Parts: sequence; C-alpha cells; structure tokens
Amino acid sequence: MLRYLTAGESHGEYLAGILEGFPAGVRMPQAYIKAQLNRRRTAPGRSARQALEKDDFRIISGLEKETTTGAPIAVLIRNASRAVPPPSSLPRPGHADLPGMLKYNTLNAALIRERASARETAMRTALGSFAMRLNELLGIEVNSRVTNLGGLCSLTAGSAAAELLRAKRAGDTLGGEFEVSFDNVPAGLGSCAHPDRRLGARLGAALLSVNGVKGFEIGGGFSLAAMGGKEAAQDPQLSGGLDGGMTNGGALLLRCAVKPVPGLRAGTPSTDLRTFRKKLSVSLTSDTTAVFAAAVVAEHAASLELAAAVLEKFGGDSLCELLPRVEEWRKRTKKAIARL
Ligand SMILES: Cc1cc2nc3c(=O)[nH]c(=O)nc-3n(C[C@H](O)[C@H](O)[C@H](O)COP(=O)(O)O)c2cc1C
Repeated sequence: MLRYLTAGESHGEYLAGILEGFPAGVRMPQAYIKAQLNRRRTAPGRSARQALEKDDFRIISGLEKETTTGAPIAVLIRNASRAVPPPSSLPRPGHADLPGMLKYNTLNAALIRERASARETAMRTALGSFAMRLNELLGIEVNSRVTNLGGLCSLTAGSAAAELLRAKRAGDTLGGEFEVSFDNVPAGLGSCAHPDRRLGARLGAALLSVNGVKGFEIGGGFSLAAMGGKEAAQDPQLSGGLDGGMTNGGALLLRCAVKPVPGLRAGTPSTDLRTFRKKLSVSLTSDTTAVFAAAVVAEHAASLELAAAVLEKFGGDSLCELLPRVEEWRKRTKKAIARL
C-alpha cells in the first residue's frame, strides 16, 4: 500500500514528509524533485514570499545513490521564511481560521493558519514527484493546463500575465480552472467492487484536498447533465478515461475549479473572537491567484493516487518486478482497448 504523511507549519523550521510503500529500484535524481518544486514555486500569480523560498530539501531515508531502496522515504524541506505571525484572534474569512479555532479550542488564529496554509503543498509536490517518476517509468504521462483564469478562457502566457497584473493593481485576486490529464494509463486500475475502491472517487478526494479547490469533474463532467444518452455515447472521451470506478484504457481527464484567493489587500470584514468587535482582516502578502500553482500540486496529488492504484493492481516490491507485469497486462488488454 502506497501512503504518505506530511507535517510542518508554514513558518516552522521544516516541512516533513514520509512516503511509504514505494518500490525499490527507482532512480530518483534530486534534480527531478527540484524541478517539480520549482514549477510550483514559480507558477504565475504567486507572492513575493516565493522569491524568498528556495524549497531546499533533504532526503533523509529511503534512497541509496539516488535510487529508492523500498524503505520509507523521508523528506525535509527547510522554510526560508520563518517569521512566525503574531497571535491573532481575528479569523480570516474564506480560510480554515474560524472553523479551526472552534474545533481546536483556541483564540489564536495563527496556530490554525500555520498548518492549514498551502505551504504544505510543497511537501505534497516533493512526495508526489516520486509517484510521477514511477508512473513515467511505466509509460504513464501526466500533464496539466490552466483553462480559465478569472473567467478568461483563451489563455496565452501574455494574456494571463496581463490579467494577473490588472487584478493585482486593483487589489483583487483571481480563481480559475485547470485540467490534469494522464496518457497511456493501463485499463483496470481502481475497482467497481466496492465504493471506496472506485478510482474516480479516490482521484476526486486527492484533488479536492488541494487548498482552494472547490469543484471537480471527470471527462465531460457537469456538461454531461445537459446531454442525451445518444449524444454522450458518440464521444467516449466524455467518460474521462473512467467507467465504473476503473480506468478504461483511454486518457484520464480531470478538471478542477479553484476559488479566488481569499486574502485581500483591501481587507475582508471579520469579527475579533476575543472582543467580538467587527474588524477588517487584511492580507498584504497573498498570491494573486493560486490556480497555476494548484495545477502543479494537483498533478502530484493525482500521481500519488494513480501510483497507489498501479501498485495495488500489479504489486511488486521493486521496479524490475513491477515493469514486466505492467507490460504483460498492456499486451493482454491492447486488442480490447483498440476496439473501443
Ligand atoms: C499553492 C497555493 C497557494 C495559495 N496561496 C494563497 C495565498 O497566498 N493567500 C490566500 O489567501 N490563499 C491562498 N491559497 C488558497 C488557500 O490556501 C485556500 O483558499 C484556503 O486554504 C481555504 O480553501 P479551502 O476552503 O478550499 O480549504 C493558496 C492555495 C494554493 C493551492
């Protein structure tokens, strides 16, 4: 079973992560992890903090000469920004602050926001890069693209940059949509045998756990609601590569909606939970949008879930055990998939 845990606060000394159940024999160059962390850190729309962060990481177990050993992989990322925010009893609307303060019985919102912060997604990206690499070695390719930025859909690098600048100057933030796709996915991952083994549900949970993601679709998603069965049957890609909770051999297509970043320079009305006075909650350091960075994080979160499904189906404690099993399965299912 492939599983992971992350720990650490946004301005603590380190983020920590453990990936367990990962097979031996996967060459994992440090540069590969670094490149993935850089994609997340330098995505368009991010705040000045990202220029400070370097995402310096150390792998403290599970690798020998840049190759996995089958032992739990432990990763540390050092935070460059360690200015712990002062205690505050003013929850930031749209964040974990208010429900977290009630849940964990504290009047200090900083305690909640330090862990709820999307800084955690740096560690998910680091751990997810192992899964991405394993999938790649098995021939499965992941991609993502932002398809909507604050309502703007025909995006180029130039139009996105202009829209971000406009929002920043107006003191506003933007949401958007992104797609994550996987090509060359073996058929039969996941299961129809029990609800919690349905792969669509598992991928949905993985992507909806990315901070700020509020909507999830598979393939045609919500557009299927307005179609007749005849129309839907004409395009098998509307299934998004998943039927009955299992991959059907087609490309996996997942789509997410991300809410606009809630932290605003102009402030948002809130209530101080100590005094019960109304006050503005002001954020001077927020990203203008999280959608580009969230797409990168989502690639990694979904890769972890897909790699887990691959390992469940094919087993194997090392890459050399796993690889021929996947190849054999691809040969066996090739004819049936080609006929679809
Ligand atoms: C990579 C990334 C960066 C984010 N940066 C910010 C930010 O700078 N300011 C902010 O208010 N929200 C930011 N968010 C969004 C919040 O983390 C998110 O809105 C908050 O956790 C509540 O979202 P939820 O209701 O989906 O849990 C970011 C999200 C991601 C994925």
